[in-house]
Amino acid sequence: MAEEARNGEATKRAVVTGASSGIGAASVRALVKDGWTVVALARREARLKALADELGPAVSYVACDITGEASTQAAVDRILEAGPVKALVNCAGAAFGKDPVATASLDDWRGMYELNVIGTLRITQKLLPALKQAPGGGTVLVISSTAGIEPYEGGAGYCASKFAERVMARVLRLEQIGEPVRVIDIAPGMVETDEFSLKRFGGDAARAAAVYAGVPSPLKAEDIAECVTWALAQPDTVDIDQIVVRPRAEGSYTKVYREA
Ligand SMILES: NC(=O)c1ccc[n+]([C@@H]2O[C@H](COP(=O)([O-])OP(=O)(O)OC[C@H]3O[C@@H](n4cnc5c(N)ncnc54)[C@H](OP(=O)(O)O)[C@@H]3O)[C@@H](O)[C@H]2O)c1
Repeated sequence: MAEEARNGEATKRAVVTGASSGIGAASVRALVKDGWTVVALARREARLKALADELGPAVSYVACDITGEASTQAAVDRILEAGPVKALVNCAGAAFGKDPVATASLDDWRGMYELNVIGTLRITQKLLPALKQAPGGGTVLVISSTAGIEPYEGGAGYCASKFAERVMARVLRLEQIGEPVRVIDIAPGMVETDEFSLKRFGGDAARAAAVYAGVPSPLKAEDIAECVTWALAQPDTVDIDQIVVRPRAEGSYTKVYREA
C-alpha cells in the first residue's frame, strides 16, 4: 500500500467491495477517472492485482472475504493504517439459485444473507467511524437491486436479501441524521455482467445467457459506475438517497421487451 502513503492526505479515498469483477471493477475504474484513490476489495487477489496494475498508483487492494470476521477486520485495519477513508461502495453481492420457496436450498438462502446482508453490514459497521471523520463527511453507498423493491417468482431468497440491504441503508440514513455521513442506495435492474448470472445458475452458461437474450441493451457495469461517481460527486451536504436504474427495455423484472 505504499502508493497510499503518498496519497495519505487525499480527501477522495474510497473503498470498493466486490471490485474483482462486474459493477465493482467498473466503479473502481470510474472513480479513478474522477480523481479518487481507491482501495479495491474482493476475495480473488490476482484479479485485484490486475486491476491495480491496469490503473496505476491510484489503486491499491486487499484480499478480503466480507463474510469472515477476521478477514474483514484485517482488511479494515490495513486500510485505516494507510490513511483516511471518505467513501465505502458496497458492491460485493450475489444471487444463488432461482428456485421456488417450496424447494429452495437453505444453503443458497444462507449464502445470500451472509454475503448481501451480514457481510455488507459487517464492513459498513467497521468503516463507519472513520467515514464520519473524513473532512467534509463520508459516504456509505450500497449497490442493492430492484429485486429489493419488487419480488419475483423464483427470486425470494435473493429478493429478501436485497430488501434487507435496502432497509439497512434506509434505517442507517435515518439513524445518522445530524452526523457527517451520507447514505446512498443505488438499485439497478438488469445489468449484463460476466459473472453474476453464471454464478446464480451454478456455472450453467446457457441459462445465464437466457437472462439477457433478445434484450436490446441491458445495462452495462459502466452505467452503474456512472451513477456511483455522480452520486459521490455531489456536495457533501447533498444526499442522493436512492437511484433506481433500469434498461429502457425493462419495466420490471417480469415486464421485459425482447427481440425475437
Ligand atoms: N448484474 C445485475 O444484473 C445486478 C442487478 C442489480 C444489482 N446487482 C448487484 O450488484 C452487485 C455486483 O454485481 P455484479 O453483476 O457486478 O456481479 P459480480 O461480477 O458477480 O460481482 C460480485 C463481486 O462480489 C465479490 N464477492 C463475492 N463474494 C464475496 C465475499 N464473500 N467477500 C468479498 N467479496 C465477494 C466478487 O469477488 P470475489 O469472488 O473475487 O470475492 C465480485 O467482485 C451485487 O451486489 C449484485 O447483487 C447486480
